[in-house]
Amino acid sequence: MLSNKVILVTGGASGIGLATCEHLLLSGARVVLWDIDGGEVGAAVKNIDASGQRCHGFMVDVTNAKQVETAMVDTLAAFGALHGAFNNAGIGSATRPLADMSEADFDAVLAVDLKGVWLCMKHELLHFREHGGVIVNNASVAGLVALAGQSAYVASKHGVIGLTKTAAVEYAAVGVRINAVCPGAVRTPILEHLAQAGIDETALAGMAPMGRIGNPDEIAKAVAWLLSAESSFVTGAAMPIDGGWTAQ
Ligand SMILES: NC(=O)c1ccc[n+]([C@@H]2O[C@H](COP(=O)([O-])OP(=O)(O)OC[C@H]3O[C@@H](n4cnc5c(N)ncnc54)[C@H](O)[C@@H]3O)[C@@H](O)[C@H]2O)c1
Repeated sequence: MLSNKVILVTGGASGIGLATCEHLLLSGARVVLWDIDGGEVGAAVKNIDASGQRCHGFMVDVTNAKQVETAMVDTLAAFGALHGAFNNAGIGSATRPLADMSEADFDAVLAVDLKGVWLCMKHELLHFREHGGVIVNNASVAGLVALAGQSAYVASKHGVIGLTKTAAVEYAAVGVRINAVCPGAVRTPILEHLAQAGIDETALAGMAPMGRIGNPDEIAKAVAWLLSAESSFVTGAAMPIDGGWTAQ
């Protein structure tokens, strides 16, 4: 499905990003993995690509414009091409009502979860507008509906869907497709933020009519489809993958 395509995955060292890197490699793609933690990048690449031939990792902070610009040059050099990108790097936020949230917390969440996606899209599109390409952004059910106690996260994820739709319209004529996935609760380290706030797994599972938490691989498979030519008429979409959470 993605044989020999070169795909960038941000936040690829953990959770949904890591599962997507693994799935893309199994689908025949070559993968460039960006993450903020150098040690984690090295370990992840070693784990998922024993040959060291099909996956390259770079330490990148997606909130840093200079690092993103430099990493894009290194990414294009790694395999000599780039065909798709999954903008997935993100952080959770502390759970508290809007009036009790600090400015520092708000800025930190928006920096990674919204500006980081915009910065990566900017540098991907500078290449894709000349050569073609496909982008998938990782939003969330929080991009579609409210989550009480998560105002900054919800604002950033609604913003990601706004960026997705706007860029999809801007670049459709040059053959670049841009979509978002909107996962419900998925079993990754980010759920620890919610656990610390006293929201346990049973409560999260209960948000979805299917009555369970998702697995990272269930997001990875949808991302691979959106990155592939199998979804050739899909652009500007925000696809829930949430066990029915937002259908209610
Ligand atoms: N797990 C869920 O329930 C869930 C649900 C909906 C959406 N999401 C979204 O999925 C994405 C991945 O989250 P996850 O659940 O796999 O969590 P995770 O913590 O396992 O993975 C996030 C990755 O992003 C990286 N990262 C964080 N800040 C970064 C930065 N500044 N620069 C580069 N990399 C950075 C982390 O190091 C980590 O490897 C996030 O955007 C998150 O908002 C998660």
